[in-house]
Amino acid sequence: MANTNFWPSMVDYQEAVQSPGSAFASSELCSGTPVTNKLGMPRPICGTFASVYEFITAGRRRWAVKCFLRNIPDLHQRYAKISDHLKKNRWLPYFATFEYQENGIKVRGKSFPLVKMEWLDGDPLNTFIEKNLSRPKVLTKLHHAWEKLLADLRSAKIAHGDLQHGNVLVRPNGDLRLIDYDGMWVPSLEGQVSNETGHPDYQSPRRTQKHFHEGIDKFSNAVIQLSICALAENPGLWKKYNNGDNLLFRRRDFLNLRKSSLIADLQKLKSPNVKNMLAAIVKECHRGRKVKSGNPANKPKAVPASWLTDYVQDYRPKPKPHSSPKSPSSNGETNATSSTSSRRDGVFSSIIRAIFGS
Ligand SMILES: Nc1ncnc2c1ncn2[C@@H]1O[C@H](COP(=O)(O)OP(=O)(O)O)[C@@H](O)[C@H]1O
Ligand SMILES: [Mg+2]
Repeated sequence: MANTNFWPSMVDYQEAVQSPGSAFASSELCSGTPVTNKLGMPRPICGTFASVYEFITAGRRRWAVKCFLRNIPDLHQRYAKISDHLKKNRWLPYFATFEYQENGIKVRGKSFPLVKMEWLDGDPLNTFIEKNLSRPKVLTKLHHAWEKLLADLRSAKIAHGDLQHGNVLVRPNGDLRLIDYDGMWVPSLEGQVSNETGHPDYQSPRRTQKHFHEGIDKFSNAVIQLSICALAENPGLWKKYNNGDNLLFRRRDFLNLRKSSLIADLQKLKSPNVKNMLAAIVKECHRGRKVKSGNPANKPKAVPASWLTDYVQDYRPKPKPHSSPKSPSSNGETNATSSTSSRRDGVFSSIIRAIFGS
């Protein structure tokens, strides 16, 4: 690992991966070949904090090689804990195998970490949705698959930390896969802070690195579920609100609920899921605003019991009701019932009335 302040840029990695034999520590990658672009150069895929290359190694095995654009000092330990927890939960079909290599790649004579991960085929969530805007049944199936994924993560005590279109792949058969485990929460990381706060168009505006617990996916889950259900009902929303790096919401919608034409459009929809999720999102954002106006100093320490904290309580398994049937899809909570749904419908109306004054 480098002991100076130098950290490689995209350009540095681009140069290094052109000579795999001298760049990589692992013999498998040393003899591998990067997938190239039209100009014959290794093709980088740029995420938020990394340059990712697809590599082909012996036996035509395909790998994602993730090279980090910033130093996260304890990433090694985090990945070890995440890996241990995923090994205990091998029944979960959503994760790719991966290996964190502390000194995986040499750049300008110094070693830097990388993650070597099984390459997964599939469309990022936004591409899949866009391709299927005219197929509401496909979107409904996607919504059910999404609910199942969230319920499974919850029962395995895993929170991804950055649920967003670029980190969710939809396989050709419709199965869902998650990538990008840098910000994942597992129980052995309890008490630590997060090293990221996720894509801003999917996160509560109040989320900070201090919010790091099993409930951190709640807001992004609501954003994703709501968007899928809303688009199944009104695909025209895509053209109006998608900008290529979101689904429907943008951070400014969370920051200014009243001015958001998206929220106004969503209020016109009939889907109970949209209503429930919108109520949850609006409640969280509104709580943030109340905190701000009530506390001009706006010190994060003064934030009262938060929605994110409430969620951890919501999150605990609830007893299954004996008589009432399960609602087909509600707010992403595993044991949501129809009575919960109707209660939330009422809650939704009162929250919307309180905030928008209609
Ligand atoms: N295992 C993988 N299989 C296929 N594509 C991947 C894989 N890992 C990463 N990618 C691609 O690289 C992009 C960036 O990787 P990611 O791990 O999300 O980086 P960042 O932390 O910068 O967001 C992803 O959005 C995806 O397109
Ligand atoms: Mg990512």
